Amino acid sequence: MNNYSEKFEKMRIAGKLAAQTLDMLTENIKEGISTAQIDKLGYEFIRDNGGYSAPLYYRGFTKSLCTSLNHVVCHGIPSEERILEEGDAVNVDVTAIIDNHYGDTSRMFCIGKTSVKLNNLIDATHESMMRAIKILKPGKKLGDIGHEIQTYVEEKGFSVVRDFCGHGIGTTFHESPNILHYGTKNTGMELKPGMTFTIEPMINAGKFATKLLNDGWTAVTKDKSLSAQFEHTVGITENGYEIFTESVKGYLKPPYL
Ligand code: MF3
Ligand code: CO
Ligand code: CO
Repeated sequence: MNNYSEKFEKMRIAGKLAAQTLDMLTENIKEGISTAQIDKLGYEFIRDNGGYSAPLYYRGFTKSLCTSLNHVVCHGIPSEERILEEGDAVNVDVTAIIDNHYGDTSRMFCIGKTSVKLNNLIDATHESMMRAIKILKPGKKLGDIGHEIQTYVEEKGFSVVRDFCGHGIGTTFHESPNILHYGTKNTGMELKPGMTFTIEPMINAGKFATKLLNDGWTAVTKDKSLSAQFEHTVGITENGYEIFTESVKGYLKPPYL
């Protein structure tokens, strides 16, 4: 036992609900489904399992999850009009609240056959997140996280979005510290047991600049290049880390077989 074991127990439950929501969506995200239908399925699943969707009415957001397609970097708003088509890739970002704790996770989904370029971007984004997670332990610093992600994806010719970052999470949705996905080794705040935060790199095929659409939420790449993202909620333990939002079904990245 330690002073954060109760908090971690609740983060496990919240993280698992968010992950199971994505697991459920995996079977439903297909050509012909609208992003609003994905939103409805997510809302109902979380509600039916005793939770609440954190994005709903968060700072004026009117949907229960985010659906970010192709050149959308993050915070895409589900809509009846947007029907998924062959070749699309969509990030679905789910945040569940249960027992006053938050679980925040996102994955990419591909519709039918997607381009080699897009598949490579998605693979690199997932790998960058996992590389950053695997180094986590007390004594590492926030800059080490960004460094892992940045060096890996830039080597592949991709770029790290600067305008959005990961965040502390627990009994609030977004708290300090900010988790930047670029950075310098051995700089920034030191990781301590009991810390809980997200790692959620947004990686672009082109340049890292983003632009906000008129709806006030949807962030797109300024150069219209493709963008990908994955997100996990993690906690720092005595000698390493715990991922709270791991798939129960073993789903990591597309293709989900
Ligand atoms: N889930 C997003 C994150 O990873 C935040 C979405 S806020 C919303 O932090 F209002 F757009 F839903
Ligand atoms: Co987040
Ligand atoms: Co999220």
